[in-house]
Amino acid sequence: MSTGTRAAAAQALASVLSGKSLNRALPPWLTKVDPRDRGLLQQLCYGTLRQLPRLEAILEQLLRKPLRDKDHDVRALLLIGLYQLEGTRIPDHAAVSATVEAIRELKKPWAKGLTNAILRRYLRERDVLEQQLDAAAKAAHPQWLYNKLEKQWPAEALGIFAAANEQAPMTLRINQQKVSRASYLEKLNVAGIIAHPGEVAAQAVVLQQPVDVAELPGFDIGEASVQDEAAQMAALLLAPRPGERILDACSAPGGKACHILELQPELDELVAMDIDGERLHRVTENLQRLQLQATLIVGDAATPPAELEAESFDAILVDAPCSAIGVIRRHPDVKVLRRESDIPQLAAQQLSILKGLWSLLKPGGRLLYATCSILNEENSRVVARFLEQSGDASLNTSEQPWGEPCSHGRQLLPQVDGPDGLFYAMLDKSR
Ligand SMILES: C[S@@+](CC[C@H](N)C(=O)[O-])C[C@H]1O[C@@H](n2cnc3c(N)ncnc32)[C@H](O)[C@@H]1O
Repeated sequence: MSTGTRAAAAQALASVLSGKSLNRALPPWLTKVDPRDRGLLQQLCYGTLRQLPRLEAILEQLLRKPLRDKDHDVRALLLIGLYQLEGTRIPDHAAVSATVEAIRELKKPWAKGLTNAILRRYLRERDVLEQQLDAAAKAAHPQWLYNKLEKQWPAEALGIFAAANEQAPMTLRINQQKVSRASYLEKLNVAGIIAHPGEVAAQAVVLQQPVDVAELPGFDIGEASVQDEAAQMAALLLAPRPGERILDACSAPGGKACHILELQPELDELVAMDIDGERLHRVTENLQRLQLQATLIVGDAATPPAELEAESFDAILVDAPCSAIGVIRRHPDVKVLRRESDIPQLAAQQLSILKGLWSLLKPGGRLLYATCSILNEENSRVVARFLEQSGDASLNTSEQPWGEPCSHGRQLLPQVDGPDGLFYAMLDKSR
């Protein structure tokens, strides 16, 4: 017998509350529920996590005494119950009864009355409970992150919070080797898929509703790939030229590597590196579907493997590991798992990656530094520190029509129905 959707969601979410990423916690449960309920299972997990700091603050008001750590599953189910009442169109009575029913599958009968009482009290007192939330809880962000974003983006913070709490749009990158964006929009129209051109990247198409990729015209022959519009700016900014040798130093799963190859079929070579050999398999799969070729290598960008010779690349893309604060809507477990103390560690790692790669660049070459963070510590400050320590590096400050100017680069901020939050800085090496 398949597991009930709410019990499955509670157990996946309990794993996240215990420190596991949603990418690891959810897949085993997707196979245990009725296939028709997979969409709801995903919605319950993603939706609850996107609202988690807010739901936690409401739950704290409703619990007479704290739940024990070993009852993370009950806690998760209560949060899922509140999410359904607050953020979905599921009728209140159906949400309450299905959630209370799910307690049976968690094998914690003592929690049945508690779940019923808490959800019903929420329905009676929701206005008062909501009024008592502080600003960070209302914005559904952890306090430390709320403070940082308010401080660093005072005028934009409300929009940033709103974007982080919504589902991201499904955006496509149209493969200009195979079809123009205008023709592909026409194909989508014929297929009954409503879409419009992206506003930032030249090959981007934004779908009004997400669809299964199997429904996309020409997906299997590589006419389109799923990639956020902000991410599509990487290859456009790198602007690969014929005959160049390019390194994509943190390349998995390969979205940006494939875009570079689509933009410039006459490259001498694209070397796609990643520290994680398993993730590098995803690059192979993407290259195969798009019939593209690259040299794949497992390696640490901070201490590049000896086979990558000094001064051998015309251009390097560093899509650095980061806090993912600019893509929270896609990875809402960041709200639970990320700690403020991670940020200086990530910044140190990002700086050591830049330092490790710089000697591989030819004199006169260019390096594009990218993160999916919107925090200054991982962006302008890393670039500034690198420039202080590297006499032959300079920041390319050419005018750009997109994003927000920062002291050492440009920032795309996440937008509801728009791009993710990515940072870019182009560094030039002197001749
Ligand atoms: C933001 S993701 C890259 C996404 C990719 N560029 C794309 O567009 O599909 C960052 C990647 O950096 C890799 N990574 C982390 N530390 C690294 C290091 N020291 N050297 C090389 N790769 C690293 C991670 O395994 C991860 O795949």
